[in-house]
Amino acid sequence: MLAEAVKYAAARLRGQGDPHGHLAQQVAIWARHKRHSAAWEPHLARCRGLALSAARACPEGSRRTALVLGPGLLLDVPLDELSALFQTVVLADMAFVPEVRARANRLGNVQILQADLTGCLDRLPEAGTQPLADVLAELAAGLPGVDFAYSANLLSQLPLFALDALPPEWGEEQRAGLAAALVRQHLQGLAALPCPACLVTDVIERGLRQGEVEYEADLLFGVDVGLTGENWIWDMAPGGEAVPGLDVERVVLGASTVRPALA
Ligand SMILES: C[S@@+](CC[C@H](N)C(=O)[O-])C[C@H]1O[C@@H](n2cnc3c(N)ncnc32)[C@H](O)[C@@H]1O
Repeated sequence: MLAEAVKYAAARLRGQGDPHGHLAQQVAIWARHKRHSAAWEPHLARCRGLALSAARACPEGSRRTALVLGPGLLLDVPLDELSALFQTVVLADMAFVPEVRARANRLGNVQILQADLTGCLDRLPEAGTQPLADVLAELAAGLPGVDFAYSANLLSQLPLFALDALPPEWGEEQRAGLAAALVRQHLQGLAALPCPACLVTDVIERGLRQGEVEYEADLLFGVDVGLTGENWIWDMAPGGEAVPGLDVERVVLGASTVRPALA
């Protein structure tokens, strides 16, 4: 807890705001990753490997900007390799810890972009009753030639912060409707980008007691991603860490590009 408090304070002291709790979540992920780095590594290596092979498939003459969505702590991002492959790498997230900013600075061609990838967090609850903007199109329009995008374990997280910002008067159905709309907004935004867009996302959470499934939860609010890709298990919180007595794992979907399947 002390290490987490110090990490959080260090980021805040260097000017990183936290209006919706994204920095706090990143610090919590940092702490959990430290506790379970060995259990997480197969998942993280698979994410990095998939993103890298998708990036390498971009034609050599079209490697201007690689856009990484939800890079967080860069655990699942092959940043050095993307930096070597593309003229520019843009990291778009709501918060950045100082270590990530420093790593980006050292590479020289990596830009940090603090942005809300739902486009509505600051305008909730009103914005939750209106059509959602095409945030990714707006983002890409402001960048010099996006030739590759990688959505890095972001999709299932997008609705959570929005749900937290809603008042108690919002009923379950209305909440679930907004959450599903945010999932669809991201998927459609990726599919509409003028480049290959690699998606890695957790889709299902399972709690297991001695290997037997005790609960299973849909992390995408009923939205069918409609993609075939690779599936694997992320051993997220073994040994009762998140839920007493249970090993919590997530089923992950990785697709090297969302475009053909959704076109
Ligand atoms: C589960 S983490 C992804 C793991 C991350 N790629 C890593 O390696 O640390 C989800 C990331 O999405 C970001 N995120 C969540 N909602 C967001 C939003 N509305 N706009 C931008 N980033 C968001 C969080 O700040 C966090 O870094």
